[in-house]
Amino acid sequence: MDTSDINKRIIVTGGAGFIGSNFLLYLVPKYPDYLFINVDCLTYAGNLTNLKSIERAENYRFEHIDIRDFDALSDCFDRHNPTGLIHLAAESHVDRSITGPSAFVETNIIGTFHLLELARKRADRAGNFRFHHVSTDEVFGSLGETGQFTESTPYRPNSPYSASKASSDHLVRAYHSTYGLDVVTTNCSNNYGPYQFPEKLIPLMIRNAREGIPLPVYGDGRNVRDWLYVEDHCRALDLVFHEGKSGETYNIGGRNEIENIELVALLCRTMDQMLGGGPREKLITFVTDRLGHDRRYAIDASKIQAELGWTPAHTFEKGMVDTITWYLSHEEWLDNCISGQYLKYYDEMYAGR
Ligand code: NAD
Ligand code: DAU
Repeated sequence: MDTSDINKRIIVTGGAGFIGSNFLLYLVPKYPDYLFINVDCLTYAGNLTNLKSIERAENYRFEHIDIRDFDALSDCFDRHNPTGLIHLAAESHVDRSITGPSAFVETNIIGTFHLLELARKRADRAGNFRFHHVSTDEVFGSLGETGQFTESTPYRPNSPYSASKASSDHLVRAYHSTYGLDVVTTNCSNNYGPYQFPEKLIPLMIRNAREGIPLPVYGDGRNVRDWLYVEDHCRALDLVFHEGKSGETYNIGGRNEIENIELVALLCRTMDQMLGGGPREKLITFVTDRLGHDRRYAIDASKIQAELGWTPAHTFEKGMVDTITWYLSHEEWLDNCISGQYLKYYDEMYAGR
């Protein structure tokens, strides 16, 4: 297909990761008159098999590019003439950022800077260019027993991951204030659902419960996270990219706060009901806490709800059943993730706990 006449050519970075895959599987069929260019360097978290059903779609292209490589990115911009960009590529796991922060600084800060530079140049030449930066609630730090993060909560990131995301958020904001680049930023809470790499809490617990091996809960397990089904996040991203106000930030969250220990116990009971056997709760093992572990996150999502009409569609109970069902019916996908590299990481992360 000749794509030069398509007037919406959108780069999606990190499209082979967890949220990126779910997002492209949603976007590509929904917008047949757009061209989506997936820019991803396929780290341990990037998996092209997630995108099999769209890999031959006429409005989809894959570019194997590391966003730390400015020249390769620049060449990609020249070849595709993008009209907008949705930036998801990142090192995303807090635990990895504690043991190896440098990749987080390089990808999340320098990589974002490269993309902003190229977006700014494109906007200068071609007029409007929307830059949608996908970020996290972790930039706000930790809450006490009460309260919620709003869009005006001051930034207080506590981990190398959240500090690197906060830095990138600030760069995005600065490119709007200084150069007038058309930017929107979204700060979302913990996602769960299909294609999440099994280093993150929910897929890790499903996998371990399936194997009958210990379920490692950090610290006292009373840390609270606000969980959102990934499909609901994707709908919010679509809305903000198309209808969000330039220069604005939008919080996205599920209004679904739960302590980690409660979540793991619920997951065990749900798997007992689905599979029999158990009780899997007896596999729960308290392990040494994460360094600098934020106590509580909770999102006030009233702005995106009031301005753009977004509201989450999935209840946690349904999302959990759907997620467990997905992982249990994608054992091969899960097993493929458990590569030698992943096992080495797993050993390092949990050996001393
Ligand atoms: P993920 O780790 O599953 O996927 C990240 C993707 O980025 C992978 O495909 C990886 O190959 C790619 N990538 C990493 N470094 C790259 C580089 N240097 N160049 C090109 N590609 C690179 O992450 P995710 O959970 O899908 O998160 C996506 C985005 O959403 C991230 O920016 C993250 O900060 C943000 N976010 C995630 C959550 C969550 O709960 N998962 C919540 C809020 C915000
Ligand atoms: O809040 C949004 C963030 O959610 C995103 O910005 C990140 O990209 C995403 O990875 C996620 O953050 P974490 O990296 O902290 O997610 P994780 O699933 O590792 O941890 C969720 C909670 O579960 C946290 O309180 C730590 C706890 N935990 C995690 C693991 C892996 C455990 O108790 N045991 C575990 O084995």
